[in-house]
Amino acid sequence: MGGTAAARSSWAAQQRKTGQVQMVSGELDLTGLRRVYGRPGSRLFYTLVCRNARHWGWTEPGQSKWRCWQAQRRLEGVLGRKLSLPAGSRVLDAGCGAGVVARQLASRFGLRVTGVDVLDFHVREARRLSARAALEERTSFSWGDYHDLEFPDGSFDGVYSMETLVHAYDPERALAEFHRVLRPGGRLVLLGPVGAPPEEISPEGHAVLDPFMDAMVFPGAKRYDSRSLSVLLARAGFRVEEALDATARYRPTSDALYAYFRLPYALLRLFGPAEKWLNLRSVVEMYQVREYVSWFVHTAVKP
Ligand SMILES: C[S@@+](CC[C@H](N)C(=O)[O-])C[C@H]1O[C@@H](n2cnc3c(N)ncnc32)[C@H](O)[C@@H]1O
Repeated sequence: MGGTAAARSSWAAQQRKTGQVQMVSGELDLTGLRRVYGRPGSRLFYTLVCRNARHWGWTEPGQSKWRCWQAQRRLEGVLGRKLSLPAGSRVLDAGCGAGVVARQLASRFGLRVTGVDVLDFHVREARRLSARAALEERTSFSWGDYHDLEFPDGSFDGVYSMETLVHAYDPERALAEFHRVLRPGGRLVLLGPVGAPPEEISPEGHAVLDPFMDAMVFPGAKRYDSRSLSVLLARAGFRVEEALDATARYRPTSDALYAYFRLPYALLRLFGPAEKWLNLRSVVEMYQVREYVSWFVHTAVKP
């Protein structure tokens, strides 16, 4: 498990060069992540409702919010356009899940995507689905922790993370790794939820949000907020091109899922604790604290 000694020492070397030597502040909570993504209820939710994608969606005014998979395809389109790389470019998918995003980028944008994920069953699923879609030549998947990648420096033209940085136990270190594996001029796109600065959240908001973030294994979400992620990117050596607040585009998917699952979740709760239905909990509780959650698309370049 983990990256090679060369990759680790390279990360450490860069930290030394930039004078930002820091202690690793946490560690990979594989048990927690297995609980979030591996429970039968979760798998059913992601397979049937999300058609194997594990991310939210993008809805423009006038577009229907009710078909979530269409909103997800639109969001992957936004990612492909923000990456803005020519066909054939090598791209890293950090936290690839079942590889839906990788296959969309390979088939719609002609990119060659390498996905890594820390859940072995996600990697197996990604490989199986890519074989079924005859996309094995343009997509490949392996076990990997994005804090400690085993790729040499400058391996990729692009890196993206679709709603995975919230899981990072050390976001600074993950960003340093993304920077290391990109070639100069390479592009980074981060998509996902970010919380409001803690001091702007009411005690009632904290009472819902904090246990929810722990249950969902979101240590990263506690380490940056809607203001500070750009600062972390700059500190990691990136030139931030855009920090787009896309909350209005994400919100319709959140509204639709809440409308679908509010009652089923309340009923299921009668038969067991919220932990059994973590993904439905995520849909319902995220909606209840929506005033404190924004959705951002950060686009950055390694100079
Ligand atoms: C919300 S899912 C998103 C999956 C995929 N990007 C998608 O949109 O379908 C988050 C993914 O990040 C993975 N993950 C969490 N921490 C990780 C880490 N340190 N390194 C690699 N993958 C990680 C999880 O296993 C999970 O598959």
